[in-house]
Amino acid sequence: MNILVTGGAGFIGSHTVVALSTAGFNPVILDDFSNSEIRTLKGLEKIMGYIPRYYAENCCDAQVVRRILKEEQISGVIHFAAFKSVGESMQEPLKYYDNNLNSLIVLTRSMMECEISNLIFSSSATVYGQAAALPATEDAPIPVAMSVYGNTKQIGEEILRDIALAEKSLKSTSLRYFNPIGAHPSAYIGELPLGVPNNLVPYITQTAAGLRPALTVFGDDYPTPDGTCLRDFIHVMDLAEAHVVALQYLMNYPSNTFYDVFNIGTGKANSVLEIIRTFENISGKPLQYRFGDRRSGDVTSLYADVSKIEKHLGWTAQRTMREALEDAWRWQQSLATGG
Ligand code: WQD
Repeated sequence: MNILVTGGAGFIGSHTVVALSTAGFNPVILDDFSNSEIRTLKGLEKIMGYIPRYYAENCCDAQVVRRILKEEQISGVIHFAAFKSVGESMQEPLKYYDNNLNSLIVLTRSMMECEISNLIFSSSATVYGQAAALPATEDAPIPVAMSVYGNTKQIGEEILRDIALAEKSLKSTSLRYFNPIGAHPSAYIGELPLGVPNNLVPYITQTAAGLRPALTVFGDDYPTPDGTCLRDFIHVMDLAEAHVVALQYLMNYPSNTFYDVFNIGTGKANSVLEIIRTFENISGKPLQYRFGDRRSGDVTSLYADVSKIEKHLGWTAQRTMREALEDAWRWQQSLATGG
C-alpha cells in the first residue's frame, strides 16, 4: 500500500520512511526541501535499496496534493511537514500559522475529496506546556500555548477532533512526540545540521565534533535533582515505528470516522546533565559546556505517560537513551567523514 509522507525528507519523516518500507508499505515523499536536503534521499537509498518516489512540492498547494493522492493511489498519509522552530515562530507568527495550518487543512480536505481516510498528524508534547501532573497523560488540560509553534500543534489537533465530531469520513490520530533524538544505526540518515541547532543533542554532537566552541546549558537552578531540566528523550527509530503501528491501527479501525491522541515517549525522564554525562562516556572525552541563563519558554520537567498507546496499540519504546546518543554520535562522525 502507498503511504504519503509529507516532510518525508526531514529528520523524523525520513526515519519513518524507513520504518514504513521495513513494514512492507510503499512510502511516497512530499517535501518542499525548505528544511531538509535532497542528500537524505541518497541515505534512504543506501538503507532501503531504492530511492522512494518523491515530489519536491508545497503541501499547501491543493492541486498538487490532490494530484499526488490520486496518481499515487495513496491509502494513508503521515503529515510531518511543518515549520518547527519555537523561537522563529515567535518572530514570524503568520508564517507559522499559514504554513502549519493551511497544509493540514488542504491535506484533510483533499483526502476526504479523494475518499482517503487514514491520517497520522505530527503533534508535539509542547502542547502540554508545563504539565501540572507528571508523567503527562493525554487527557491533561491543555494550557494556552507557550509559543506560536506550539499553538499550531494545538489548533491542528482541534481541527482533526472537530472533523471527527462532524462525523466526516476521516480516521486520524495526533501523535504527541516528546524529545526525538538519535539516528538510524547505519548513520546514512540523521538530524541534518541546518544552521545553529536549537535542540540539545545535535548541539552536543556538534560541540564534540569541534564544530561549536561549547554547549551552553540553559539553567542549572531548576527544582530538579541536579538543577537542570528533565525531558523524555526517545530514539527517533522508536518514534518512527510508532507511526507505522498507529497507521496500521487506523487502517484496521472498523469505522470511517475516528480521532484520538497518543503520547509517544519512553515514559522515562533524564536531565540535561545526565545526557551530557552519558554522551561523555560514549565519546570517551569531556564535553565543553558552560552554565548559562534559563531559556525563555523552557519547562522544568516533561515526560510521558505511555500507558494509553501501550494499551491500545501495543507499542512501547524499545531503545535506550544511551543507544540514541550512540547513534547520534555515529551520525555526527559520518558527517565529518562525508559519509
Ligand atoms: C531540551 C533541554 C533546554 C539546547 C523542543 C520543542 C518541542 C520539540 C522538541 C518539535 C531544555 C536544554 C537545549 C542547548 C540546553 N520540537 N538545552 N542547551 O525544548 O524540550 O523541545 O524540541 O516538536 O516542540 O519545544 O528540546 O532539545 O531544545 O531542549 O541546555 O543548547 O535541553 O534548555 O531543557 P525541548 P531541546
